[in-house]
Amino acid sequence: MMSKFMEWVDARFPATKMWEEHLSKYYAPKNFNFFYFFGSLALLVLVNQIVTGVWLTMSYTPSAEEAFASVEYIMRDVEYGWILRYLHSTGASAFFVVVYLHMFRGLLYGSYQKPRELVWIFGMLIYLMLMAEAFMGYLLPWGQMSYWGAQVIISLFGAIPVIGADLTQWIRGDYLISGITLNRFFALHVVALPIVILGLVVLHILALHEVGSNNPDGVEIKKKKDANGIPLDGIPFHPYYTVKDIVGVVVFLFVFCFIVFFFPEMGGYFLEKPNFEVANSFKTPAHIAPVWYFTPFYAILRAIPDKLMGVIAMGGAIAVLFVLPWLDRSPVKSMRYKGWLSKIWLLVFCVSFVILGVLGVLAPTPGRTLLSQVCTFLYFAYFILMPFYTRMEKTKPVPERVTG
Ligand code: HEM
Repeated sequence: MMSKFMEWVDARFPATKMWEEHLSKYYAPKNFNFFYFFGSLALLVLVNQIVTGVWLTMSYTPSAEEAFASVEYIMRDVEYGWILRYLHSTGASAFFVVVYLHMFRGLLYGSYQKPRELVWIFGMLIYLMLMAEAFMGYLLPWGQMSYWGAQVIISLFGAIPVIGADLTQWIRGDYLISGITLNRFFALHVVALPIVILGLVVLHILALHEVGSNNPDGVEIKKKKDANGIPLDGIPFHPYYTVKDIVGVVVFLFVFCFIVFFFPEMGGYFLEKPNFEVANSFKTPAHIAPVWYFTPFYAILRAIPDKLMGVIAMGGAIAVLFVLPWLDRSPVKSMRYKGWLSKIWLLVFCVSFVILGVLGVLAPTPGRTLLSQVCTFLYFAYFILMPFYTRMEKTKPVPERVTG
């Protein structure tokens, strides 16, 4: 019965062909490690955000008068509304944890290098859209931090010469952040950006499957094939990695649910304290800081005294990641075979990024500003010096086959 049905479908739609191409006959390197869980986890979190988001939208009211109260209504009166909201708000932070680890894996194993440049670029576009999605979503509960956070970020566009003032007004749709701004952010957060992100994820995976996955050794498994044309170091994604990924999903869900049930606010890092107070355009909170996943870039912005230069540096910090595939001139991909200069610089970069993240949460003092300037310098030095240290250093010989 079933095979007859599939025959009927396959004559009209490439269902079996797609299943084979992307799962049962997609040969992935057999040495995937811990860091390779985060791609499928990112997919899981994406689905969680979409499903909980749709259900939240059923009870949320996107107007300046009612938004805050409608979120309280979801939390108190809607059946299971509280869990929907906490799954969505914790999911936003989980998304960035997962994506940052996913990107770190790329840096560690040179997954952005030839022939995976487009996989990386699509990934970066996803990251950019994810930031926009999170930023716009944060305005929706219409709390104090929603309002003033948006105020700070939108006003940055005002630093652009000539068009700055008009541009900020165009983004807000009003002379100040108002219900009009809330409505357009709602439309973008709920409809436009999720569509863009979903489309980019499809392109990201199509590009990856065109060239095949990299692995912790950075060995191209397609170079060594058996008589049937199957890579010697490859195993079918399904069932091997579908089953392995379930282990990652279960562990992730344990941690995720623990946070959702016991620490949904995460001490003010996932849901900030001023956001439990309704937005008030007459009362600026004493200390405005974005959510943790934006703070490294916020610290770079504040490190530079001139507003325009700060905005350029902040934009540059993200833009430079796009050209990473062309900055790395190393003949090898994986950190396992790169020299000690690459290893030290990756460490310096990661430590600087984390310190900037911490500084971005804290109120500035002269000492902290100096430290953020040093870390900003090191952040950029990692990229700008990369063409030199990756070419200079001595690399280890890469094995012919993956080492397991
Ligand atoms: C919604 C967000 C994202 C989703 C759902 C996603 C999904 C995936 C999946 C399923 C894979 C294959 C499994 C794996 O290698 O872990 C993958 C690979 C990859 N992703 Fe992403 N990704 C996302 C964001 C990003 C971002 C932001 C970047 C970097 C800027 C990125 C860069 C890469 C690279 C370079 C690979 C290939 C890794 C390799 O073969 O070693 N991805 N992604």
